Order: sequence, then structure tokens, then C-alpha cells
Amino acid sequence: MKAKKFEGKVVWITGASGGIGEALAVKLSSLGATLILSARRMSELERVKLRCNAERTYLFPLDLGEENSILTTSQAVIAQFPSIDYLFNNGGISQRSEAISTPISVDRRIFEVNFFGNIMLSKQVLPAMIRAGSGHIIVTSSLVGKWGFYLRSAYSASKHALHGYYESLRMEVEQQGISVTLVLPGFTATEISKNALDHTGSSTGAMDANQAGGLTPEFVAEKIIEGVLNKKFEISIGKKEALGLVVKRFFPSYFEKLLRKWSAR
Ligand SMILES: NC(=O)c1ccc[n+]([C@@H]2O[C@H](COP(=O)([O-])OP(=O)(O)OC[C@H]3O[C@@H](n4cnc5c(N)ncnc54)[C@H](OP(=O)(O)O)[C@@H]3O)[C@@H](O)[C@H]2O)c1
Repeated sequence: MKAKKFEGKVVWITGASGGIGEALAVKLSSLGATLILSARRMSELERVKLRCNAERTYLFPLDLGEENSILTTSQAVIAQFPSIDYLFNNGGISQRSEAISTPISVDRRIFEVNFFGNIMLSKQVLPAMIRAGSGHIIVTSSLVGKWGFYLRSAYSASKHALHGYYESLRMEVEQQGISVTLVLPGFTATEISKNALDHTGSSTGAMDANQAGGLTPEFVAEKIIEGVLNKKFEISIGKKEALGLVVKRFFPSYFEKLLRKWSAR
């Protein structure tokens, strides 16, 4: 890995209080990055900081579902770090409820966090990136950003929306030195299913077998960093589920049959 690439670089990671974001923070810290870590739970951010180089790690708690929180936090971050080299827009929330029983308020909540909060943060950092003539925005989507899946109607839709948005943004800013990478993890062994919202808007608290048997967040973080260094447009990471991208493209009807055999949890 071209480790030196991150020395002296300012890297902002959302969703850094656990899972993939935590693994990214630990790895990027070991590669010399100065870290800005964000999520809602300050106590968990403090824990992650202890796993990083504390002298180069700064905590800025943030709620991606609250416009004011995004504005005030990003203003504070930009005041301290006028130029951000990498924004890992990784924070997100999943869903485990059928579309028919999910009230629109829960659908909207998922979109606020996964889509509007995400793009709003990019809008805050982009002007400085454009002035600097460089910068890289990395967005954690999902394989279900490419296809729908049981119990994840709004989640899958919010991830699909990220693709449309960031593919358009990339075309608009690439000539100004800005890179945009979409990351599509498959099942990863994090707390995502426990934190997922059910039809009442509460966390399920349940670890799904798919997640329990998934890739480690450390492996996923390594693959993300490799792809980012190579300025990939898209990075897909998964076990057999990642093959779905190829199967869907070349054998779409067969893929639809296959997908229906996968366990929802
Ligand atoms: N694990 C998988 O199987 C999988 C697969 C595909 C894609 N992904 C994506 O990977 C990303 C990271 O998820 P993960 O697997 O690491 O799950 P996780 O362990 O649940 O981590 C989610 C992170 O997002 C943060 N977050 C959630 N809601 C937030 C809010 N309103 N404001 C700010 N931060 C918020 C959480 O922090 P706080 O709770 O402290 O706010 C936490 O740091 C997500 O975008 C997820 O959709 C995961």
C-alpha cells in the first residue's frame, strides 16, 4: 500500500464510532493521516480515538439526520481545517421492515441520514476542495445500491439515490481535480443490523446471520483504501454476493431468481 499518500493528509470520516468507519480510522491513522472523526456517540468516538494516533485525531460529533448539526459541525471543522483532502461519507443507517408496514416518517428518516445528510456534508467541503484544485469524496453505498432486497426498501432506495447523485457530481467536478468514489460493501460483520430501524423507527437490536458471517470491517477498510489510492470510480467488496454485480449485468433474469433464494437476514 502506498502508505505515504496519507501522511500529512486531512481525512474526515463519518460513521467513525464503529464498524467500517472505525476500521477506516484505525488503518488511515496508521498510514499517517490526520483524522477528523464524526458520529453521534461521543463516548464511542473517544474509544476509537484511543485506537488511533491521538495527537492527530480530532472528534467532531455530528447527527447526519439534523441539518443544523451538519452546518454547525462542518463550520467548526472547516475553521480548524480549511482544506480537507479526503471526505469518507460513511455514516448510515439500515432498515429491517417491509415496505407495506413502514410509515413514511421512517422512510424519510433513512433518506435524511443516508442521502440528504450525506450530500449536505459534501456541499460543505466541496468549495474548499475546488479552490485547492484537489480532494476526494468517498461515499459508502452498498451492493443494495445496485439492486433491491427484502426488508430494505427505503435503505436500498437511499443507496441507489447516492449513485445517481455522485455519478452526476463526479462529471461536474472531475475537471477541477476532485475525485469521487462509490463503495459497495456486501455483508460486513458490524452492528448495522442491530442499529437498523424497524417499522416503528426503533433499532432492531438483532444481529443478522448475514452480517455475523460477513467480511470483517478491517478487510473492507483495507479494500476501500486500496481502491481510493487507485482513484476507482466504484469499489465493490463482498463474498459471493459481490458476484451478483456480474450475474445481474449478464444474466438479469437468472439473477432475479437467485436473489429470491438469499436469506433476508
Ligand atoms: N455492514 C454491512 O453489512 C454494510 C453493507 C453495505 C453497506 N454498509 C454501509 O456501511 C456504512 C457503515 O456501516 P457499518 O456497517 O459500519 O454499520 P454500524 O456499525 O452501524 O456503523 C454505522 C455508523 O454510522 C453512524 N451513524 C448512524 N446514524 C447516524 C446519524 N444520524 N448521524 C451520524 N452518524 C450516524 C453510527 O454512529 P452513531 O450511532 O454514533 O451516530 C456509526 O458510526 C453505512 O453507510 C452502511 O449503510 C454496511
